Amino acid sequence: MPKSLISISDFTKEEMLHILDVAGEFEKNKSQNFLHDKVIACLFFEPSTRTRLSFETASNRLGARVIGFSDVANTSVSKGETLKDTIKMVSNYVDLIVMRHPLEGAARYASEVASVPVINAGDGANQHPTQTMLDMYTIKQTQGHLENMNINMVGDLKYGRTVHSLIQAMSYFSPRFVFTAPPELKMPQEYKDFLTSKKIPFTETEDLMEHINDTDILYMTRVQQERFTDPMEYEKVKNCFSLTASMLEGCKKNMKILHPLPRVGEISQDVDDTPFAYYFRQAGNGMYVRMAIIAYLLGAR
Ligand code: CP
Repeated sequence: MPKSLISISDFTKEEMLHILDVAGEFEKNKSQNFLHDKVIACLFFEPSTRTRLSFETASNRLGARVIGFSDVANTSVSKGETLKDTIKMVSNYVDLIVMRHPLEGAARYASEVASVPVINAGDGANQHPTQTMLDMYTIKQTQGHLENMNINMVGDLKYGRTVHSLIQAMSYFSPRFVFTAPPELKMPQEYKDFLTSKKIPFTETEDLMEHINDTDILYMTRVQQERFTDPMEYEKVKNCFSLTASMLEGCKKNMKILHPLPRVGEISQDVDDTPFAYYFRQAGNGMYVRMAIIAYLLGAR
């Protein structure tokens, strides 16, 4: 079976550091052409702006050609074709598959039936490993290293797949975590158990201001309406946090605000003009990191 990237735990610490180095090379020189004989499929069964467009741009910048869909209604899935059959078919056409799917576990299943590498571009509330790699790249870019960070994760920690992957990846680098969430959106117990097993300290709070002045990385997240089965539950928590510029007055000078985006109301636009805002540059880093992951999985770096 070819090597795929489904969960961040599919990469060793050494592989992660290698990807970050290669992404740095691509940031210095983004015009590459060494995958000119490759075709990459981008199959998006769920909406996306950044992940899909940065994967497509990354593929183009490496010289590869791209096929795929972003609206499942225009595919034979709408006639009842199974995920298994779809993936087996697409495997016949391409050298690598990038897939986003609303169901947890769909990406792992796709990798088991595909004859080419599969990259998980997000599967439900489970994992989003390429977002994690670009988050790590951004943390290193802003802080100069990855070690001993105070990382404060804020918002939807229950359904937010990006925070779940990031906890696992940063566990190699002696972090300290604060989980800031309302009771309904707390970090799931399995991730807290994981940190306990690794002796990594974490604390939980409902008050965004409680730890903000000790924070190196403030990782904001959106409350994800699409993951709620009960609309009343969403209404209760949708405005749980709103970060404004005035709340940042006592923050550490090195502190940076990251967000996987899209944002809805959790970061006020007046934060964009502060030196702490880094989320748009973070999204831009996605292209270099995804170039590096594609090149690595295709054996070209
Ligand atoms: N961060 C992220 O996954 O954004 P999109 O949903 O726009 O791809």
